[in-house]
Amino acid sequence: MALTDLTVSNPTVVGLPTSALALPGDAPYAPSPAGLRQTREAIAGYYADLGAHVDPERVVVTASTSEAYAFLWKLLCDAGDRVLVPRPSYPLFDFLLRLDCAEPVPFQAYDAGAIERALEVDSRIRALILVHPNNPTGQYVEAPFADRVTRLVDEHALALVVDEVFFDFPHAPSLPATTAGTFAGRTRHRGLTFTLSGLSKVCGLPGHKLGWIVVGGADDVATEALARLELIADTYLSVSTPVQHAAPRLLADRHGFQNACRERLRANLATLDSLGLPRRADSGGWTAVVPLAEDLDDECIAVDLLEEDAVVTHAGYLFDIGEFGAAGTSREEDWRSTLVLSLLTPERTFAEGVARIAARKLLHHVRGKNFPQVP
Ligand SMILES: Cc1ncc(COP(=O)(O)O)c(C=O)c1O
Repeated sequence: MALTDLTVSNPTVVGLPTSALALPGDAPYAPSPAGLRQTREAIAGYYADLGAHVDPERVVVTASTSEAYAFLWKLLCDAGDRVLVPRPSYPLFDFLLRLDCAEPVPFQAYDAGAIERALEVDSRIRALILVHPNNPTGQYVEAPFADRVTRLVDEHALALVVDEVFFDFPHAPSLPATTAGTFAGRTRHRGLTFTLSGLSKVCGLPGHKLGWIVVGGADDVATEALARLELIADTYLSVSTPVQHAAPRLLADRHGFQNACRERLRANLATLDSLGLPRRADSGGWTAVVPLAEDLDDECIAVDLLEEDAVVTHAGYLFDIGEFGAAGTSREEDWRSTLVLSLLTPERTFAEGVARIAARKLLHHVRGKNFPQVP
């Protein structure tokens, strides 16, 4: 006998009119907690273009990279558990952890010894974040450091979380390897690795609200993690169906944005180079860290630049550079007083702003200090 369903609660399947203005793709609504198949395939296709093999079944679609973090802390942490977080880096990591009742344990970015020391004294650390390339210092995770971190993570049964939102924006022509999936047939790491990214940086579309997690690791651990992530995603069903339908086309169309973006990054970096400012050539991302003369307080300088010269900058302390230095930006690991500038700024505005900063003789090298040459 046909069922008489007295539970149906999906408004798109009960014969009610939907708005003619509704976005295409949402009727009938058929939620798929880890994401629509074609969306996950398109994300796997993005990694194929980077030379990595990602199984679409290993992809979980989220509303943003930030939400991907929130899902991971629900998956990996009980209240009070801790996560190793690089410093300097993205300032919202601490908020993202604390909103899920977990605690950040800061480590100096790229310092495997600092990670090791933290793990010796703290048994409640569950995961470690790497940012590839880091924001704002721009350094990609290099192989020797990654190998050492992977060993530590395995020894302590931690999960590795790799944030690759700025991965596609190297300042040099060559691209390092993504941590997602398998590369040249080689599984990277048996333990759990979660690689995160999203449309906000890959396509320059932060308002479209679509990110993802690629779950790496041996089949047994990955399968269990995926099942649990699916439960978390199912609880929220937060990713809009229209954007999931649009994702394959948006991802396929990313190159126009990315090429123009990389060109702008290089033009603005050339402006900084013309002032003799030191930088690593092998970095990436949308920001430049500019050293101020040591005796200057970066917050005061940022306020002063705003009030006196109408130039808006970020002080490095916002990213904890004051406490941890700007490791990774160049061989000069000890910059404490810095400004962080957005390399997305239109070229002419960037050149004008930087010229005004340079004219004030605030910059480290402009003061004529002994400044090391960056190779
Ligand atoms: C390193 C890093 N991770 C994650 C995010 C958040 O990305 P989304 O907009 O996808 O939440 C940002 C945003 O700037 C970021 O800099």
